[in-house]
Amino acid sequence: MNYRHDFHAGNFADVFKHILLTRVLIHLAQKPKPYRVIDTHAGSSLYDLTDERAEKTGEWRSGIARLLATDVAADFGDETAALLEPYLAIVTPLIEGNPPLYPGSPFIALRLMRPDDKLQCCELEPAAAERLKANCGKDKRFRLAELDAYVGLRAFIPPAERRGLVLIDPPFERPDEFEALGPAVFEAWRKWTTGIFFIWYPVKDPRRVDRFFAGLCEKGVKRLLRLELQIAASIPDGPLARTGLAIINPPFGFDAQAERLLPALASPLSNRQSGSYVVEWKSGE
Ligand SMILES: C[S@@+](CC[C@H](N)C(=O)[O-])C[C@H]1O[C@@H](n2cnc3c(N)ncnc32)[C@H](O)[C@@H]1O
Repeated sequence: MNYRHDFHAGNFADVFKHILLTRVLIHLAQKPKPYRVIDTHAGSSLYDLTDERAEKTGEWRSGIARLLATDVAADFGDETAALLEPYLAIVTPLIEGNPPLYPGSPFIALRLMRPDDKLQCCELEPAAAERLKANCGKDKRFRLAELDAYVGLRAFIPPAERRGLVLIDPPFERPDEFEALGPAVFEAWRKWTTGIFFIWYPVKDPRRVDRFFAGLCEKGVKRLLRLELQIAASIPDGPLARTGLAIINPPFGFDAQAERLLPALASPLSNRQSGSYVVEWKSGE
């Protein structure tokens, strides 16, 4: 396991994923009943943007830095700015801190969760798990299992609350990650057909992504939404230029929010060049 998110924190794919994650969490908090977040590949939850790994790639400079340099109300309009506000309210003070930090998914979830909601994380890489414990371990709503994500997916689903979100955010360093993901997601969904499944992926070979969606649809997964954001031309073996989310059971109205957010984000994140996006129901709205 070589992947370290410190190289990538705050890049365009994180910005895309985390903005949409805030929209799902806000929806979950609209009903009084508690919910659970299961974050299968949690990471360390806070990333120092002056760390040599972040400096080496500079990916955050073409991600969160571009969004923060945008006047969102003037450029995107008030409705889109309102959808971005919860994300920006979490990120902006951290980036303005010393050192500048970027939040990962556990940090964002804990910020938007209520006192009775719960967060179950899995993280297998020892250094990331240590940092995650140091950053979130004092919060009573937080639990960490230093387990393989796919083992955690079987162990923690369905949660007692029967309301909530499963965030699956693999590093895609194993060549068969899509092939492992499809059956694992299907098994988890079968055990909890009303859960929200929020699965991040990179688009390097679009045919593998198509096969992943087709596999879930063929098995009968319902209410499956595909979101993608492209920020530059894709070059074989070049830097990641397109990213996506497969979301099962997105909240009502979430697709309309994505239709608003993605074209807005495509502009600054592509440096006002060739951004494009997809919002597509793959099975049943
Ligand atoms: C893309 S990062 C997660 C980022 C995080 N979800 C966020 O949005 O801030 C993937 C994480 O999964 C961890 N990881 C890799 N393989 C894993 C596995 N088999 N089980 C659990 N965690 C794993 C890596 O150490 C890394 O911290």
